[in-house]
Amino acid sequence: MKIKVLGSAAGGGFPQWNCNCSNCQAVRAKKPGYTARTQSSIAISDGSANWILVNASPDILTQIKNTPELQPNRSPRDSGIAAVILMDAQIDHTTGLLMMREGKNPMRLYTTPAVWEDLTNGLPLVPTLGFYCGVKWTPLCTECDEPFSISPLDSIRIKSIPLVSKAPPYSPSRYAQRRGDNIGLLIEDLNTGKTVFYAPGLGEITPDILPYMQQADVLMVDGTFWTEDEMVTQGFSQKMAADMGHLPQTDKPGKRGSGMISQLRQFEKQRKVLIHINNTNPILNEHGDESAVLAENGIEVSYDGMEILA
Ligand code: MLT
Ligand code: MN
Ligand code: ZN
Repeated sequence: MKIKVLGSAAGGGFPQWNCNCSNCQAVRAKKPGYTARTQSSIAISDGSANWILVNASPDILTQIKNTPELQPNRSPRDSGIAAVILMDAQIDHTTGLLMMREGKNPMRLYTTPAVWEDLTNGLPLVPTLGFYCGVKWTPLCTECDEPFSISPLDSIRIKSIPLVSKAPPYSPSRYAQRRGDNIGLLIEDLNTGKTVFYAPGLGEITPDILPYMQQADVLMVDGTFWTEDEMVTQGFSQKMAADMGHLPQTDKPGKRGSGMISQLRQFEKQRKVLIHINNTNPILNEHGDESAVLAENGIEVSYDGMEILA
């Protein structure tokens, strides 16, 4: 399979429109070692011209323009995007759906029932799209371990894996998590035998997801924050990483081994890649100490346009 990182930043992107954190200032000033990023999304292909879009970011039109593969030009109106899977109902992962309203057929959308409910009521993208292309929904099972395929990518098999993270602020489930508010994917290519574990919003590595991570060849996981209190210490929010459903890279105060870097050490054979990086995260300084720590630990930082073959 080929995975194309369309957007590697968290909500807001990098730089964020109203942010003057030191990273956003540096990237705006084109300081060496800082690379602009759009909001979190990937596309998966089986090697053919067909792709599955995973999350539809508000930057989708820019991302499509930057990715000629997504426009195979087989007929007067055409897209390489065969279907869309959503990991949650967050604004940075869903509002790009509105930009795809000109589709000539109903949009094929794969979400959990929890996400579908939020996108029907709290943020009614689904009823809105009903006035344009319409939506053909396939519910993702959060109780079974059965893989599914999305035609015509029949050699790609996908499992949806419920995760501990957070529903969006507008959701009635924000403080009462339902199973399926947040999922990750285990993506397998039957031709290569390789698997990728993808979880851009991951609050906790719970014991139930360990077997999926162990069997994967590549781990693409939540890279939002470096520290638990990053937004607080930089003066942007009162929220901790955990309040937003993200596991920071470094250990939480007093909790040795709790951070992403510590926890990824148990996955020795896997390629490890961070995605969904917030603009406040010091790893966005490619020449900084934090980037060096990641490199020492064999952890890569994704960037827009990155390709992963598995
Ligand atoms: C999050 O994952 O917490 C989001 O990036 C927040 C947002 O989209 O505003
Ligand atoms: Mn997000
Ligand atoms: Zn910023």
